[in-house]
Amino acid sequence: SSSTPNLIAKSKPYTTQFQGFSVPSEHISSIISFQKHFQALDDDIIIATKPKSGTTWLKALVFSIVNRHRYTLSNTPLNFTTPHLLVPYFDLELYKENPNPDLYTIPSPRIFSAHLPYPILSDSIKHSNCRIIYMTRNPFDNIVSYWHFINGMNNTLKPSLEDCFETFCRGEEVYGPFWDHALGYWNMSLEKPSNVLFLRYEELLEDPVAQTKRFAEFLGFPFSMEEEKTGMVNQIVDFCSFNNLKILEVNKTGKTPRPKIPSNKLFFRSGKVGDYVNYFSPAVERLSNILKEKLSGSGLTFK
Ligand code: A3P
Repeated sequence: SSSTPNLIAKSKPYTTQFQGFSVPSEHISSIISFQKHFQALDDDIIIATKPKSGTTWLKALVFSIVNRHRYTLSNTPLNFTTPHLLVPYFDLELYKENPNPDLYTIPSPRIFSAHLPYPILSDSIKHSNCRIIYMTRNPFDNIVSYWHFINGMNNTLKPSLEDCFETFCRGEEVYGPFWDHALGYWNMSLEKPSNVLFLRYEELLEDPVAQTKRFAEFLGFPFSMEEEKTGMVNQIVDFCSFNNLKILEVNKTGKTPRPKIPSNKLFFRSGKVGDYVNYFSPAVERLSNILKEKLSGSGLTFK
């Protein structure tokens, strides 16, 4: 009957339970290749986030900090290349085409990214001295941002906001549960503070200058007195701001390496804190209670 194709489409799982998390089914094989083959170097930098936590922004900032002696802000590749190509994902890109890509040709320090939770990272990363910057975001804005994003993708999946919220509360959203994702990195940041830096999108938005200096120190690229005097930090922060990145042609009309994403524009929506109040105030209490229980005793809080 005419309803059959629909049923088939619905029964194909978008995510698969993998080592305790809901991982996109289409990326399982590249995650396994990454776990098996990736060899971390001590000066590698890894940007880890759950989707829609400000990854694009963090990639642009870290790339700018690390490469500030190689490029000026007028000739940085960020002017004409998406941050997602400059800082590629292990699972979504690098290990997708080739199960064992040669990553040794990338100039040091290599900057990679992952949406993967800490336990799923390769053992080689866990045993190396590399630096991980993890950014999380208040879950309500995270859900709204994801809902807009998934509906803008070339995807048959078009969930309602209620669907996204319910899936999130069950801990079954992409790369969820949210709390376990955040707690994995939170606990590592307490255990190994010189290897794992934990921050929230809201903190970065509140004081991007202070956080940018903090990243630079953490990564071993501290700003000199001279650079502070000449306003280098502010220039990087302004360059990477939502209003600047958003209007670059590459980020308005350019394409990401991922076919399902119609335009880089999808990574720049509102760039604000607390946008969720325009979407679902009554449900806030319910998820707040879930989080209170899931995070209890950890010391991790959200604004
Ligand atoms: P909103 O949908 O709430 O606007 P990711 O990069 O992890 O996919 O996250 C995307 C979210 O970060 C989007 O949130 C997007 O607008 C926001 N964002 C992108 N660039 C930003 C920037 N330079 N400063 C602040 N927020 C930014």
